[in-house]
Amino acid sequence: MTEQNDRVLVWDLPTRVFHWLLVMSVSACWLTSDDDRYLYIHVFAGYTTFALLMFRLGWGIFGTHHARFRTFAYEWPSVTAYLKGLLNGQAARHLGHNPAGSWAIFLILMLIFLTTVFGILLFGGEEGHGPMSAYVTWAMGDLARPIHEFLAWTLLGIVGLHLAGVVVESFWHKENLAAAMITGYKDGGDDIGGGHHGHVTQRGVIGVLILLAILAFAGYFFRGYVTSTKDHPFLPFDGAQLPTNETWHSECTDCHMGYHPTLLPARSWKRIMEEQNKHFGEDLALDEDTVAEIEKFLVDNAADNRLTEPARKILESIPPRDTPIRVTETPYWKRKHHEIGKDEWKKVHGHGDCSACHADAKAGTFEDAEMHLP
Ligand code: HEC
Ligand code: HEC
Repeated sequence: MTEQNDRVLVWDLPTRVFHWLLVMSVSACWLTSDDDRYLYIHVFAGYTTFALLMFRLGWGIFGTHHARFRTFAYEWPSVTAYLKGLLNGQAARHLGHNPAGSWAIFLILMLIFLTTVFGILLFGGEEGHGPMSAYVTWAMGDLARPIHEFLAWTLLGIVGLHLAGVVVESFWHKENLAAAMITGYKDGGDDIGGGHHGHVTQRGVIGVLILLAILAFAGYFFRGYVTSTKDHPFLPFDGAQLPTNETWHSECTDCHMGYHPTLLPARSWKRIMEEQNKHFGEDLALDEDTVAEIEKFLVDNAADNRLTEPARKILESIPPRDTPIRVTETPYWKRKHHEIGKDEWKKVHGHGDCSACHADAKAGTFEDAEMHLP
């Protein structure tokens, strides 16, 4: 037999498409994890990762030989035997996954499942979005955050081990495993594991379908950006509308944007309305009925009611003895904005010019992904 004839198709196309899409989606999750402004992309990458995992679970049962879980479900002793073999130079070559590699893969799949599940809980609890938003409380969201982060870092650690394993194996058996995951082919020859020496079938159509499905999902998820204009920017997390009020709107948006009630506690709004005749050096000259109506609207939707994530965090940051009359003097606001440089502030009309940087400031939602520096 010639070299050429010895090449065996080990990884069918769906397995390879899955593998590289997963590399991309997990990388995207990681790259967008630090900065809340990329939350929408992070969430897309997370859903994609979850969908890919679901496919892989099915393919582990119905896929071709080397993709099936039972062909690489090694017991722990064979892992230690394999690792010892690496040390004393006798590790056998496996056409499919070797025992150590297979454990890394099962761990990775399990961690992906847990990380995405806790991500969805966190997203529902803290941000009030996603499929679980109706079922998860703030407190549960807060609890899910450290777990989500811990799982994600553990996942990256196992991925690191997996990469190290690929490098060691590739040198050890003098075959490029990463290339095999691209072409699908490996040299036949002296395989001992798996017990399947012939070609698997390519299953090309299914591979292409996965790719198309992910592309279609991306198109659907990001469709808002295509139709967005400067006047009507796409607001990714445009969910439930916050309450608004005619009188408030007509009396409180003349000199500055309307600061939504959710941004200050009820006691602050009461004070602001009490002092309306000396409002930051201005006399608002409102009559009693108007004051009463606006105050009711402000108090009914104040931070105390925790209608949004910022509401809750602003409220929690203010010591009970304080009654600030500026949003921009609350500890939470200061903490969130202290890293913005002087040059950036010069481009907007002062700290109170929220809508210069928050596309959804007028609606009051202050979603992470609606943020941009001028
Ligand atoms: C006549 C103009 C005018 C009107 C009308 C007005 N304000 Fe103001 N408001 C001001 C000025 C001036 C400031 C201080 C701006 C600054 O120093 O940055 C201010 C600041 C504020 C702030 C603090 C913003 C911050 O820095 O965090 C709040 C809250 C506020 N106004 C609420 C209201 C409410 C509620 C109403 C309606 C009842 C209202 N304003 C109507 C002029 C006005
Ligand atoms: C110069 C631009 C700018 C202005 C003006 C501005 N912000 Fe921000 N804001 C930002 C940036 C940038 C962040 C993100 C900081 C970070 O990444 O943690 C932020 C974060 C926030 C957050 C936290 C969002 C979250 O969930 O992490 C809230 C709430 C917020 N701003 C409210 C306001 C309000 C209210 C005003 C007006 C009184 C305002 N901002 C004015 C730029 C601005």
